[in-house]
Amino acid sequence: MNKIGIIGVGNLGRSLAEGLVNYGKLLAGDIALFRRSTSKLEQMKTKGFRISSSLEELVHESEMIFIAVLPQQVNEVLDLIKPFLSSDKLIISLVTGLKISDIRSRLDGHDLIARAMPNTAIAIGESMTCLSFNDTSATRSEEIKSLFNHLGKSIVIKEDQMTSATALCACGTAFFLRAIRAAMQGGTEIDFHSEEALLMAAQTAKGAAMLLLENGTHPEEEIDKVTSPKGCTIAGLNNMEHSGFSSAFIKGITTSAEMAKELY
Ligand SMILES: NC(=O)c1ccc[n+]([C@@H]2O[C@H](COP(=O)([O-])OP(=O)(O)OC[C@H]3O[C@@H](n4cnc5c(N)ncnc54)[C@H](OP(=O)(O)O)[C@@H]3O)[C@@H](O)[C@H]2O)c1
Repeated sequence: MNKIGIIGVGNLGRSLAEGLVNYGKLLAGDIALFRRSTSKLEQMKTKGFRISSSLEELVHESEMIFIAVLPQQVNEVLDLIKPFLSSDKLIISLVTGLKISDIRSRLDGHDLIARAMPNTAIAIGESMTCLSFNDTSATRSEEIKSLFNHLGKSIVIKEDQMTSATALCACGTAFFLRAIRAAMQGGTEIDFHSEEALLMAAQTAKGAAMLLLENGTHPEEEIDKVTSPKGCTIAGLNNMEHSGFSSAFIKGITTSAEMAKELY
């Protein structure tokens, strides 16, 4: 396995680093990390990760370089790493809205570039990761897919679908968590302490998702199994729809997709 470097160790960069070690069968010592506030990397250092003292050091020590900084921070990073890049360094950008062609031109034609859009569940090996390649990085697609398949599931999409993937899968984590919180609040109102309600709501959500993934069924097919005529489930479900449940979810996803286009 190639040595890996991660530039930007915030929410996503840290989750990726932890996922690679806990689920990707990599050693922490084979992963170099860099962020400007090095004091915030002490905890990662104690876990055995290598902490690079500069971007130059990280680039020299890594064959596969993940970029996990915010869209408004990425140009500076690209400008700083450009002098140290050789053509064999694989850049994998996790940055929302930044196209492979934008990175290529900022890096004066460096061509070995892929994009990945994971979510924070990568830390526990349960990410949904969408991948896009250019012609050059496509030669490494199997290796990159295999890496992400250890950290959840991955799918290769056209690059122009990346902003939509961001809304559905990366922002989607927050959408489903809010749905679970709402279920928890409902559970508390009808009888349970919040900790009990949270466990009950989260495990129910996990079970519902697993039914689809394991059975390969459509959600409505599984819903039919829960809704008996004149029953309490259909009454609750219809009431949610009268209050705009599906519509709110769809509007949230389309709004995020529109915004994701504008972030870089
Ligand atoms: N969070 C998610 O769920 C998620 C999912 C998919 C994609 N993404 C994308 O992933 C990227 C990172 O998101 P995030 O949520 O992890 O952001 P974040 O928590 O704000 O982390 C950004 C990191 O970048 C570092 N950084 C900024 N400028 C830098 C520089 N010049 N050199 C080195 N490091 C630098 C910051 O540390 P210092 O300030 O200490 O340098 C920080 O560690 C974004 O583009 C986001 O769109 C995020």
